[in-house]
Amino acid sequence: MTQISTVGVLGSGLMGSGIAQVAAAAGCRTIVRETVALQIERGRLSIEKSLAKLVEKGKLDAAGRDAALGRLSFTADLTELKAADLIIEAITEDLTLKNTLWRELDALCPSETLFASNTSSLTIAAMAAATTRPDRFAGLHFFNPVPLMPLVEVVRSVATSQDTVDRLLAFARRLGKEPVQARDSSGFIVNLLLIPFVLDAIRAVERGVASVPDLDTALRLGAGHPMGPLTLADFVGLDTLCRTGDIMFEEYRETRYAPPPLLRRMVVAGLHGRKSGRGFYDYSEDPPRPVELGL
Ligand code: 3HC
Repeated sequence: MTQISTVGVLGSGLMGSGIAQVAAAAGCRTIVRETVALQIERGRLSIEKSLAKLVEKGKLDAAGRDAALGRLSFTADLTELKAADLIIEAITEDLTLKNTLWRELDALCPSETLFASNTSSLTIAAMAAATTRPDRFAGLHFFNPVPLMPLVEVVRSVATSQDTVDRLLAFARRLGKEPVQARDSSGFIVNLLLIPFVLDAIRAVERGVASVPDLDTALRLGAGHPMGPLTLADFVGLDTLCRTGDIMFEEYRETRYAPPPLLRRMVVAGLHGRKSGRGFYDYSEDPPRPVELGL
């Protein structure tokens, strides 16, 4: 089995920058393709901050940090990804956008290059079909914050080959992650169960069951969750959560996946959670203060 030594990452948002960081830290030459200049700077900064935290905590030494940064490059030019053994896509959850990129990359890259999507809810088969390599196409789903969360879901579609699955399992282990295998159904394992749970928490707030901080405190202290579901919603991004819910509802037609009206209103109002500074909480203050939602 040939080792993956060069990784291409599409997108340098929350997930793309985290994936790029762990790939570079594990010794891979990592090329991040991002078209928005501001987002390149944000991605680079978040990687530098995260590596600095790991050094501070003694999980990485300064030489390891410098080596990781040295293996990392950013570009707006898609053709630079021709050098990659594996391309991991982490752009917005929009099938048309994703498939436009996959088509271009399919024409550009050698036939042996592996393609993987970090989608949280779209089906892998729907992307693989846009390429001439469905056997070398799979899902590789990471969790936020990528440098800290140990899980990776390796998703095989009806067309993914065993060799592709084996190589991605080995790659995930090389990143220091614990891989699990999942079938190509919307939400895979974690989001299938986590998304309706978080949406239910928002419905509970809508119904006035409890205040936002009390609901979070209850789940943290009463059920041992590392963060309450509304803090988690802000952390994942309310726009991403809403989009993921919509895609899963479209797939399963089960109301538990349907985003509640409060979530839609918050997204429209630009309350996208931690990344935009405001969601269920206002992050301009420390500790974050619950936002007045007029409920
Ligand atoms: N890089 C490096 N270090 C980081 C970091 C990062 N990106 N983020 C946080 N840290 C460090 C902090 O600095 C802190 O260091 P310290 O111990 O020296 O203070 C340490 O990690 C612990 O962080 P915190 O004190 O802020 O908080 P926690 O102890 O609660 O740990 C957490 C943080 C690991 C994020 C934990 O709260 C957690 O597990 N939360 C749940 C996250 C989760 O469920 N993620 C999945 C979301 S779903 C998803 O991603 C799928 C998608 O498809 C929607």
